[in-house]
Amino acid sequence: MIYLRAEMIAPESIQQVISRSDIVEVIGQFLKLRKRGANYIANCPFHNEKTPSFNINPSKGIYKCFGCGKGGDVVSFVEEYEKFSFVEAIRWLANYYQIELNETEAPEEYKHQQQVEESLRIVNEFAAAYFQDILLNHEEGRLIGGSYFEERGFRRHIIEQFRLGYCLDKWDGFVTEALARGYSLELLEKAGLVKTRDGGRPYDNYKGRVIFPIFSATGRILGFGARILKKAEHAPKYVNSPENELYVKNKVLYGLYQSRQSIGKLDECFLVEGYTDVISLHQAGVTNVVASSGTSLTEGQLKLIGNLTRNLTILYDGDAAGIKAAMRGLDMALAESFNVKLVLLPDGEDPDSFVQKSGAEAFKQYVETHKRDVIGFRLEVGLKEAGNDPVKKSQLVNEIAETISRINKTEDFTLQQYYLRESATRLQIDEEGLVHLVNKFIRERLQQERRQKERKQGRDAEEAPDDTTAAMYAAEAEPSAVSDIFSKDNRQELQLLKVLLEYGDKPYEESGTVAQFFFETLDVDLLEHPLVKRIVLLYYEYWVTHHQLPDTKYFTSHLEKPIREMAAEVLHIKFSPSENWVKKHKVEVLFGENVYDADIKSTFSYFELKLLRRMLAENMQQLQQEKDMQKVMALMKTHQGLKQREKELMALVIVR
Ligand code: CTP
Ligand code: MN
Repeated sequence: MIYLRAEMIAPESIQQVISRSDIVEVIGQFLKLRKRGANYIANCPFHNEKTPSFNINPSKGIYKCFGCGKGGDVVSFVEEYEKFSFVEAIRWLANYYQIELNETEAPEEYKHQQQVEESLRIVNEFAAAYFQDILLNHEEGRLIGGSYFEERGFRRHIIEQFRLGYCLDKWDGFVTEALARGYSLELLEKAGLVKTRDGGRPYDNYKGRVIFPIFSATGRILGFGARILKKAEHAPKYVNSPENELYVKNKVLYGLYQSRQSIGKLDECFLVEGYTDVISLHQAGVTNVVASSGTSLTEGQLKLIGNLTRNLTILYDGDAAGIKAAMRGLDMALAESFNVKLVLLPDGEDPDSFVQKSGAEAFKQYVETHKRDVIGFRLEVGLKEAGNDPVKKSQLVNEIAETISRINKTEDFTLQQYYLRESATRLQIDEEGLVHLVNKFIRERLQQERRQKERKQGRDAEEAPDDTTAAMYAAEAEPSAVSDIFSKDNRQELQLLKVLLEYGDKPYEESGTVAQFFFETLDVDLLEHPLVKRIVLLYYEYWVTHHQLPDTKYFTSHLEKPIREMAAEVLHIKFSPSENWVKKHKVEVLFGENVYDADIKSTFSYFELKLLRRMLAENMQQLQQEKDMQKVMALMKTHQGLKQREKELMALVIVR
């Protein structure tokens, strides 16, 4: 067991680190941030989510996730994200900002209960330095390890960047050194660096192999992969670290540390299979690449990628195993709503051999021309598989139609059209027939969903109002309502404030509560009334700092008079839709006694409508400038889609 000295950092140093640390910059190292008004949002790294509810408030230096409730300042983010202690987080930040810490002399006694994790980190760090020193400076290292890497075309700078190394071919080179340095055998074994046969002497687990250290997202060494140099029948090609407190295989992505920034910047991540693929691509200048290290992609690994980008391009071997592995990764990535593309490399090639042979330009070009989306990929693989077999082919047609029918859900009409045409051509079937088939799948699913809904609501099928249809008819009858709605801006904002203050803690949709829905989906900058906006921001601030929603009293007895008055005013607004509205929109029936549901929906719909109008205007502007006919068509489709949504929303807004 290795004992660490108790850590003592001067309080001024801690202060200095905290005040120097920029929360946006630091979190931006780990997550892909988007600006939303004065704040930033991201997908929360602490729970699984597809729409961002992780908020950063730069002026206050705090973050808060509305999904899982985690929140705090820059230090607690680093603690939480890296599973660091406070002191470790301060050290990490100090290192990041190159601040020298003023440390008091460590006290005499040693800490007896040190976290195994920290010990493993330290011994790994030592081992990596040792193995690299052997590779670069030791005769056998240079001769054997060095020429191996040279043969593979790895140059010095890339060897240093990835901290590659070599373990001497003599059983006890490393273990002797490590024990002499005071590392315990127990720790060395736990780290997987050393093994001991029953009753025998300890020996180097990576004997005679080249070493690939595996890093965490922040550059700590978690474990190693060690490759054999020559083909050996009885020895595995790679020996990897065993799972321990630090090295959790399915949460590690090889190359993430080196590729992190580039993945964020390019907003795309290449996924390859092997260590050497990552390294060769980096050397060729393709730096947005990570490896799943031989296993098929796991959820934990996807989450690491999802922190940086939603665009994933999987580059696997073109052989049967590669295709199977790619398919598994693809399904999971799709389920996690990644935008996934696939590239199959020519038979017998992996990214490493390809880029070493043909160079970066050819590689990039190959990727661009062979990128397939899900349907393209299924088509390609399916057609190859089906050959001339009519049964297999008709199965394929069904499968493709089913997949296309699911695109509808994402409301991407243009894309669906494109796939219909493309698939019909490639399957050599009539497009109209395919459309019918796709529609059949959509109908079946809708029916199924409706039946489920009915069962859930315990309602008779005949009585159930078809809410969207009703809403659309209602909107159709009122063609001028849009301008009407927007002339009552002020009033809607007061209503919105009321909804938040009075019903913030009520359950709402899938979001959880009204307040969650509010801050997750609405842009506070849409508010025009300065006082309303101010109170909404105060509300948010209270929530983030107190971890609970403010009481209405917080506002009605606020120090500032205008806030008190405004709060009182909105709380007095009488809610409940007019009878007229209730009659006109059958939607109301759905909410039974709970009047506020309809009011909340109405108010939120109003703001979504406002957002939508902004999008419509932007789209229209693009439309007017666009010359390319195909793009014009796409923009028109978007326009239609937005208009459709506008109609639906209008039917939900209560005009008073
Ligand atoms: N792998 C492993 N254990 C093995 C074989 C493979 O852990 N016995 C993992 C390694 O992470 C390896 C990846 O699977 O990087 C891909 O395997 P492979 O393509 O065989 O290795 P490469 O890294 O491409 O190595 P090389 O180019 O030297 O063949
Ligand atoms: Mn390879």
